Amino acid sequence: MARLRLTAASPPWHGRVVAATSAESPTEPDHAAVFAAPERHGIRLADGVLHVEDVPLPAIAAAVGTPTYVYSSAHVCARYDELAAACASHPTLLCYAIKANSSQAVLRTLARRGAGADIVSGGELARALAAGIPAAKIVFSGVGKLDAEIDAAISAGVRSINVESAEELGRVAARARALGQVARVALRVNPDIDPDTHPYLATGLRESKFGVAMAEAEELAVHAASQPSLAVVGVACHIGSQIAEAGPYLASAQRVRALILRLRARGVHPRQLDLGGGLGIAYGGHEPSLDVAAFGLAVTEAARSLEMDLVLEPGRFLVGNAGVLLTRVVGRKRGESRSFVIVDAAMNDLIRPALYGAVHPVVPVDAHAAARSPVRADVVGPVCECGDFLALDRLVPWPEPGELMAVLGAGAYGMAMASTYNSRPLAAEVLVNGGEFAVIRPRATIEDMIAAERIPGWL
Ligand code: LLP
Repeated sequence: MARLRLTAASPPWHGRVVAATSAESPTEPDHAAVFAAPERHGIRLADGVLHVEDVPLPAIAAAVGTPTYVYSSAHVCARYDELAAACASHPTLLCYAIKANSSQAVLRTLARRGAGADIVSGGELARALAAGIPAAKIVFSGVGKLDAEIDAAISAGVRSINVESAEELGRVAARARALGQVARVALRVNPDIDPDTHPYLATGLRESKFGVAMAEAEELAVHAASQPSLAVVGVACHIGSQIAEAGPYLASAQRVRALILRLRARGVHPRQLDLGGGLGIAYGGHEPSLDVAAFGLAVTEAARSLEMDLVLEPGRFLVGNAGVLLTRVVGRKRGESRSFVIVDAAMNDLIRPALYGAVHPVVPVDAHAAARSPVRADVVGPVCECGDFLALDRLVPWPEPGELMAVLGAGAYGMAMASTYNSRPLAAEVLVNGGEFAVIRPRATIEDMIAAERIPGWL
C-alpha cells in the first residue's frame, strides 16, 4: 500500500481506518461472523447467552451494572503463553505495554506469567512496580521523559531507558551523574519503516516524533558509550501499532542490524534488540489473525543472527480481545435516513471509533435477540457529540430497550483512554477467572468526582 502520511493536505479521516477489515457497511450483522469463532474475542456462547469464560455476561450486568469492561484472565494468559512459546527458542523478554490496559489486576495477571513492562511515564513505572513486575524487566520508552521520571527509573534500576534524542541522552547522563549511578540506556532509533497502519499509529516514519534518526544514531551511541554515567545496553525501535505481519519488523531489524555492526566495529556492544510492540489483532470476524508462530520464528532469528537478546513490547495483542465493553440499550430511534440504537456506553468510555474510525463488533448478549431481523443502524452513546458512536452503519438485530449488548475487542486502549466527558463517571471493570469474577475497579460516582474538586476561597 502506498505510504499514507499525516499531512494537512491529507487529513487522517481520509485514510484507511485502523482495524477496519470488516467494513463499516457490512452485508451481514456483526454477530454472524463473531458467533462462528467467539473464542477469538474472548467470549463464548452457552445457554443462549454470551459468556466471558464461565461467567454469563447478564450476571455481571446484574451485579455491577453497565457500562462495564469485562476482561478474561484466561485469554490474556493464553495470548502471553502463545507469544512466549513462539519466541522460546531464543532469550526473549515480553515487556507488556502498560498503556494498553493499565489496571493493576491485569498487570498482576501478566506479572505472574513472567511478563516485563514497557512504560512511558512515572505513573506507569509506579503501576508496574506495584503489580510486582521487577525493575529488571521494565523498559522505559517515551518521547518526553521528565527529570523526576528519569530519576525514578534510574533509582528503581530499570532494565533500560530507551532514549529518543541527543538532548534526552544528555539529561539521562546528567541525572545519573547527580544520583551517583550508571543508567542503562537503549537507543530508540527511528528506522523510517512504513508499517501500513492508521497514520496516528505509525511511529517509525522519518517524520514522526519518535526515535533518533538513523543518520544520527551511530555517533550518539558512541558518544553515550564514552559517558561514565551511562551503559549502552541496547538498540530499540517501535514502528507502530496494529501490524498484521512480521515483514515490517524484519525490515526494521535489517536497518538496525547495519547500525549494530557499525557500532561493534567501534567497540560498542549493545546486547539487547528491542523490536517494540504493535502486533495486530483481529477485531472483526473475517480478517486473518497474525501468524504468531511465524512471527516468533522470524523475530527470534533476527535477534539470534545478531547474538542479541530480544525484547518485544506487545500491548494490544495481549489484552485487546480479552475485553468486552458491556452496555445496555437505552432506546432506539428510526430516523428518515438513519436509524440509531442508543446505548449507555459512549465515546468517553471507548474513544477508538471516534478517534481512529476503528471498527469494533457490537453484538447482542442474548442469542434470541441476535436471531431478530437486522436493521441498518448506528450504535451511539448519550454524549452530546456527533462523533459519539460505537458503530456506524451496521446491521444490528433491532434490540429492545433494556437489552444488553457487548462491544468486542475493547480490552486494549478502552478503559485506558476513557474520560469523564459529559460528567459521566468512569465505567466499572471486572476480571473473570474461570467461573468467578471480581470487580477490579468499582464504578466511579458523581459524588466522588465533585468531591475531588476544590472551590476557590472567593466563591
Ligand atoms: N511500545 C511503544 C514504544 C509504544 O509506543 C506502543 C504503543 C507499544 C509498545 C504498544 O503497541 P501495541 O502493541 O499495543 O500496538 N491508542 C491506539 C494505540 C496507540 C499505541 C501507542 N503506542 C489505539 O487505540 O489503537
